[in-house]
Amino acid sequence: MPQIIILPHVELCPDGAAIEANTGESICDVLLNNHIDIDHACDQACACTTCHVIVREGFKSLNPSNDQEDDLLDKAWGLEP
Ligand code: FES
Repeated sequence: MPQIIILPHVELCPDGAAIEANTGESICDVLLNNHIDIDHACDQACACTTCHVIVREGFKSLNPSNDQEDDLLDKAWGLEP
């Protein structure tokens, strides 16, 4: 079962967290289901990018992004390579 390590964030998760996720479950769903209330303005309709997160490790374990996600990320704030 994949584990997601959440680094401390002053507002969203001050102490950080380690969360077990189900394979195939979106990071957004995992966070929201564990009371880490990241923005998700379009309710995950892939129309806003407010739910984007930064992945520090384990990127290769994620599904590749699709063209729609890539196009939206071009407009997102605070992106890092
Ligand atoms: S909530 Fe994720 S793209 Fe809008």
